[in-house]
Amino acid sequence: MLINKAIFPVAGLGTRFLPATKAQPKEMLPVVDKPLIQYAVEEAYAAGIREMIFVTGRHKRPIEDHFDMAYELEHELEAAGKHELLELVQSIKPDDMECVFVRQPKSLGLGHAVLCGERLVRGEPFAVLLADDLMVGEPPVLKQMVDQFKDWRASILAVQEVPADQTKRYGIVAGTPVNASLMEVSRIVEKPAPEAAPSRLGVAGRYILTPGIFDEIRNQPRGVGGEIQLTDGIAGILRREKVFAYTYTGKRYDCGSKEGFLQANVELALTHPQVGKWFCEYIKTVTC
Ligand code: UTP
Repeated sequence: MLINKAIFPVAGLGTRFLPATKAQPKEMLPVVDKPLIQYAVEEAYAAGIREMIFVTGRHKRPIEDHFDMAYELEHELEAAGKHELLELVQSIKPDDMECVFVRQPKSLGLGHAVLCGERLVRGEPFAVLLADDLMVGEPPVLKQMVDQFKDWRASILAVQEVPADQTKRYGIVAGTPVNASLMEVSRIVEKPAPEAAPSRLGVAGRYILTPGIFDEIRNQPRGVGGEIQLTDGIAGILRREKVFAYTYTGKRYDCGSKEGFLQANVELALTHPQVGKWFCEYIKTVTC
C-alpha cells in the first residue's frame, strides 16, 4: 500500500463548541449515533490505511478509550446475548488496524500538531484528516485522493470552491489546471481576505503529504493567529516539490461550526438505515 499512515490532529480546544467541549473532545461529538472521529477513521480505513496516528491533548482520553477494547461492555453484551451490539462495538477497531497516540503538549496550531506525528510517520508519505470536516462521498474522499497519489506521487490537497465572503476561513490555493478536477498549485495563502484571495478554491480537511513537509513546518515562523500553520509548511514544499489541489466528489460538513454540525445531523439522519424514514416524516411536521 502506498499510503499506510494517517495523522488525526485532535488536540484543538474546540472553543466554538463550548460548553460542550469543556471536558470532552470536539471529535467525540456524535453525528446521529457515531462520533466525528469515527467517521474520519472509517474514511481512512476505506482508503486502505491501517495505521492511525492520533495527535491528542488534554481531555482527549475518550478518543483513546473509543478505539480501545471495552472489556466490561463487551463481556456484558456477550453475556446478555446482544450479538449485534457486540459486533458493532468490536467493529470500531478492526483487528488489522493499529492506533497510536502522541501528545501535542500545547495547542500551537495545526502545523505543529502534524509535526508531533513526525517520528511515527517514519519518512513515508501520509494522510492528514481533520475529523471536524465530515466528508460524505462515494468513493470516500480520501480514497479518491489516494488514487490521485498513485498517479502523481506528490502531495495532494482536497479543495472545494468556497463563497467569496468565506475565504477568510480557509487556506486558499491558486495554480495551473491539469484536468477538470486537478490543479498544480503555485500558491497557497492561509485565511486571506476576499480581496487578497488568489482564487476561491479552499482547502478542506483532507491532505496527502510527503515527509518533506516536516522540515518545512519546523522552519516556519508563527503564522496567522500566532499559530504554526500547516498552510505555511505546504507553501514551503511548493518551492521544492509538486503539490496538487484535487476537487473531490462529495459533500463536506464543517462540523467545527454549529451550522455545519446541525446540517450534518439532519442530512445523515435522513439517510440513516434505522431512523431515516421516521426522521423524514418527523421533520415535515416541524415549522419555524
Ligand atoms: P480548528 O481550527 O478547528 O481549532 O482546528 P479547534 O481548536 O479544534 O476549534 P475552535 O476553532 O477553537 O472551535 C482544526 C483541527 O486541527 C486540530 C483540531 O483538533 C482540529 O481537528 N488542532 C488545531 C490541533 O490538533 N492542534 C492545534 O494546536 C490546533
